[in-house]
Amino acid sequence: MGLFGGGRPRPMTHRTQVGIVGAGPSGLLLSHLLARDGIESVVVENRSREYCERRQRAGLLEQGTVSLLRDSGLGARLDVEGIEHGGIYLQYAGERYHVDFRDLAGATVTIYAQTEIVKDLIAARLADDQQIEFSVSDTALAEIDSDQPLLRYQDSNGAAHEVVCDVIAGCDGFHGISTIAAPAEQVWERSYPYSWLGVLADVAPSTDDLIYAHHPEGFALHSLRSPQVSRLYLQVDADEDIAAWSDDRIWAALQRRFAVDGWTLHEGPIREKSILPMRSYVRAPMRRGRLFLAGDAAHIVPPTGAKGLNLAVRDVARLATALTSWLRDGDRRLAEEYAEASLRRVWRATHFSWWMTSMLHTTPGDDFGLALQLAQLRYTTTSRAAATTLAENYTGVAAA
Ligand code: FAD
Ligand code: PHB
Repeated sequence: MGLFGGGRPRPMTHRTQVGIVGAGPSGLLLSHLLARDGIESVVVENRSREYCERRQRAGLLEQGTVSLLRDSGLGARLDVEGIEHGGIYLQYAGERYHVDFRDLAGATVTIYAQTEIVKDLIAARLADDQQIEFSVSDTALAEIDSDQPLLRYQDSNGAAHEVVCDVIAGCDGFHGISTIAAPAEQVWERSYPYSWLGVLADVAPSTDDLIYAHHPEGFALHSLRSPQVSRLYLQVDADEDIAAWSDDRIWAALQRRFAVDGWTLHEGPIREKSILPMRSYVRAPMRRGRLFLAGDAAHIVPPTGAKGLNLAVRDVARLATALTSWLRDGDRRLAEEYAEASLRRVWRATHFSWWMTSMLHTTPGDDFGLALQLAQLRYTTTSRAAATTLAENYTGVAAA
């Protein structure tokens, strides 16, 4: 084997059309959609397959996301295990109100966990004999401004690889390396003075639709994963230590925040708990030459609007179409439009997520803010126009 750089072995060289960094929902779905159009890709991921399949994250899919997954051949388990919801509950001042999406927006949403989507996508990629390299290290991008950008990595055995690509897709999330290769011209950012404590509990959901509860002590959300598993969230301080939250303390806080007359929150063993930071972040452009960013690599929303995963899916659906018409048909037009067109939807979701977050999370001592929140909640649950705004945005049918 020859020598490369400071005495290191020369990397094995490969060629592909699209080099994809990251095997989260963005990277895997992009690879899947491209393959259906005859475009070859290589996915590299620095975590193990098991880690990617277990990482607890989002769960709520817009109607458009469900259709896209189904239309691309990923509906088999989703259609059996996904739980369709025709609305949500908004709760404040001890009362609970239903917002009916079917009636207001003619649309529904579906609970199907990100872990399951990732499992389906990995299985589909491997069944297609497509290459996913898990547990890589030292991922790096080079020659980004040339016609043949390079994706470099070390595989799990320590062997160095260099993939010569037509295009690279940076799907490596908020802490990835793609954003270093494509420096932002502008960044918009807001961090919120609170976090979420998320728990997965082995207990049947106590509700038919998700409950978003405003409470003077802090926000709470009742979601679910299956007829036997509940997913619950509590607003906590931004710098909260998970060790301070025993299971008893978590259930007591949930009981207080969800309390309404005549309804019972069922408790069960807590299987997992973690703290999630809350942040809004948008960077532009979502492209540099032949490097395209998608999903959390380009934007982050606080989870109150359930938009993060849905935005990632919209980005890669657009990117797959654009790259296919470029690499297969020689037409670059959609690729040129990708960054700007994606940002319109990103900003709609960024506004909605900020709006839901601001309406539902409390800040100690902010009496003015509290009164505004209650006014907005009252308006949203009594005006058809206001409820329709929520329904259109939440289900994803709002025009971007
Ligand atoms: P990711 O899922 O982050 O995937 C990026 C992938 O790239 C990862 O697998 C990562 O390991 C890999 N990677 C990173 N760096 C490298 C590298 N150098 N080389 C190779 N691979 C690399 N959204 C909601 O709607 N509801 C929620 O409840 C919710 N909870 C969340 C909780 C957490 C802790 C986080 C971080 C996000 C949450 N989100 C939630 C957002 C949602 O999960 C994301 O929007 C979604 O995962 C975006 O998918 P992605 O593929 O773009 O990014
Ligand atoms: C979830 O089920 O994890 C979930 C649902 C709705 C949200 C956020 C998270 O707004």
